Amino acid sequence: MRAELKAKTKDLLGRALGRVLPSDLTEGMREEWFAARTPRNVFERVMWGEFQRQYYALPEHELRRLNRDRFWANADGKKWFEEHDDVRLEQRKALVNQLREVLDELPGTKTVIEVGAGSGRFLEWLGNEGFGEGRSLVGIDLNAAQMADNNERFPGLTFIAGEIQEWLKSNPLDGVVVIAVGTLQYFTPSELQDFFRLMATGNNTTRLVFAEVTNLDLARETESRPRKRTAFSHHYEHLMNGTGLTLTKKVLEDVGSGSQPYVRLTATCKPS
Ligand SMILES: C[S@@+](CC[C@H](N)C(=O)[O-])C[C@H]1O[C@@H](n2cnc3c(N)ncnc32)[C@H](O)[C@@H]1O
Repeated sequence: MRAELKAKTKDLLGRALGRVLPSDLTEGMREEWFAARTPRNVFERVMWGEFQRQYYALPEHELRRLNRDRFWANADGKKWFEEHDDVRLEQRKALVNQLREVLDELPGTKTVIEVGAGSGRFLEWLGNEGFGEGRSLVGIDLNAAQMADNNERFPGLTFIAGEIQEWLKSNPLDGVVVIAVGTLQYFTPSELQDFFRLMATGNNTTRLVFAEVTNLDLARETESRPRKRTAFSHHYEHLMNGTGLTLTKKVLEDVGSGSQPYVRLTATCKPS
């Protein structure tokens, strides 16, 4: 109850300040919020909350534009990769297990694509573990500067700058396994469904394996909810309904802390 009251007060205060503060002051702060800077004091915390509320109130095409063009494809996105230049295997254990199972089941797999490959370190790790033997390991990401760096840094791997959606539209999905960690949370709900539909144009040798966190109560809530800066909590299984993609395996891990009911869903999916 106290936490609810605190959140409500913060929300009301943020809305009021958002209305009365001069835009030259708030625009500078908004840039800092968007660049993922941590708030330094209570005032900034209140304003960060207001910027986030205003962000999610934008039309979906505008959310896509800001999230992609202004953050991930840009210098702030590159900075994020520099700060996350590691494998974080703990978060990827279930995904690695499911990927191994998929490749055992489909030994003819030609390509494993990581969508949202970022620093390239996970793909590098997969290469070192032998996942690339007899097949190509490809990373796709919106950040062109990072993909160019990765191509220089990891000569045995291929990194492509661009949107996974475009790649899926213009390449055969025969023998293609797509993996994603912490990337699909940045897709808007309808964008995620479009992505599932594109994956469903593959055949019985096409798979999607992903690991994403959500703080929805999955037994009761199906509607996507804004979460933390520009990410969403999605009900991935619900959004997959009717897209032609079927979830064939899932592992749910409790990754919450305190009163935050976070779970990580790791799932394998194939065209129905
Ligand atoms: C939070 S980062 C995750 C990076 C990496 N998988 C990791 O866990 O460190 C999300 C990544 O998804 C990429 N991304 C978002 N939408 C994308 C899209 N439609 N196509 C390709 N990459 C995308 C962003 O550029 C960003 O690098």
